[in-house]
Amino acid sequence: MKYDFDRVHSRLNTASVKWDATEDIFGSKDVIPMWVADMDFPTAKPITEALEKRAAHPFYGYTLPSKCLIESIVERMHKKFGWKIEPEWIVFTAGVIPAISTALDAITHPGDEVILQEPVYYPFFPVVKQSGCQVATNRLKLTGNRYEMDFEDLKARFAPKTGMRNYPSRVKAIVLCNPHNPIGRLWERPELERLGEIAIHRGAVVISDEIHCELLYRGCRHTPFAAISKEFEQNCIVCMAPSKTFNLPGLHASSIIIPNKKLRDAFQQTGTGMPGPNLFGYTAMEAAYRHGDEWLEQMLEYLEGNLQFALDFFRQKVPKITVIQPQATYLLWLDCRGLGMDNMALREFMRKKARLGLDDGFLFGKGGSGFQRMNIACPRPILKEALERLEKAASTL
Ligand SMILES: Cc1ncc(COP(=O)(O)O)c(C=O)c1O
Repeated sequence: MKYDFDRVHSRLNTASVKWDATEDIFGSKDVIPMWVADMDFPTAKPITEALEKRAAHPFYGYTLPSKCLIESIVERMHKKFGWKIEPEWIVFTAGVIPAISTALDAITHPGDEVILQEPVYYPFFPVVKQSGCQVATNRLKLTGNRYEMDFEDLKARFAPKTGMRNYPSRVKAIVLCNPHNPIGRLWERPELERLGEIAIHRGAVVISDEIHCELLYRGCRHTPFAAISKEFEQNCIVCMAPSKTFNLPGLHASSIIIPNKKLRDAFQQTGTGMPGPNLFGYTAMEAAYRHGDEWLEQMLEYLEGNLQFALDFFRQKVPKITVIQPQATYLLWLDCRGLGMDNMALREFMRKKARLGLDDGFLFGKGGSGFQRMNIACPRPILKEALERLEKAASTL
């Protein structure tokens, strides 16, 4: 069937974090919310049909992931990424952030350190803190319009602190974000190889958050960290979910792939008592993986159009803001340093003058100052209105 992504649907009064908390978060109802990572597109028809069918059977008892769902994940990893996984490697959780939290609790002890590559998805910071660990920052380098990993700095994060030469490194995990939110980069095989080698030699587990791995722009390919080698496979926890791809984050269903039995057992023991996905999360996940690709192909084509529209608009009409060209994700990382504002002035400018609800770059940690993150997964009329608001606001400066 043909989906109409141009159509604007109201999401007001649907308990939507994005649309119903606008006034609380941004101080006015008159802002276009383009922050949290969900899309203003209805999901695929086969998913809603599967949910309706399941809801019509009025028994909502304790639930198992079906064999068919597990097979669909195994098949998808192989078909999409050439990664062969075993069914028993999959652990279901009610989200990727809860999974990262469980993984850190399983791997680390209080006082250990966890590497984050900043600027990065900001909920990682409280998760590291909650596990009793400290963040060790391996800041990404921006050269021209492209971010790169800094491997010399990464190695230096493992060096003992001054005066503690006889103590081994306290870095026990690296949280890899691939594709990386907010910069939209897909890490390439050689980069992943270098990171993976450093992790193995220094004794850190890689937690690879690959939640955005199916939101790719034309010509781009995702490499799952674990698919690189058997050694890497044994030293990582891979977080996957259909939630970003098919716009299902409210259903809280993720599949965490842990090939190493020892790590998997530790993860499962630590997660004892944590709720997994619920009945509808499992139902939607299976329908998405089995029957969602027609929608996904059309959505990605529409998103490509949105990206081109936004890139052209910024270049022609708001040249003081530079867009970091993404390879993946529907999140645009906007370099607003050309506007010459400090972080608070930039926040006020976006909220009050441009009337846009974006994510402040400084929330994403080191290297985020002077940036804003904009979610462009919306019908083009909304995107156009938002960019015109921004152009008008910028013209008054
Ligand atoms: C990189 C990344 N990881 C995790 C999440 C959140 O995942 P979940 O809602 O499954 O906890 C997001 C949401 O935007 C994200 O961008």
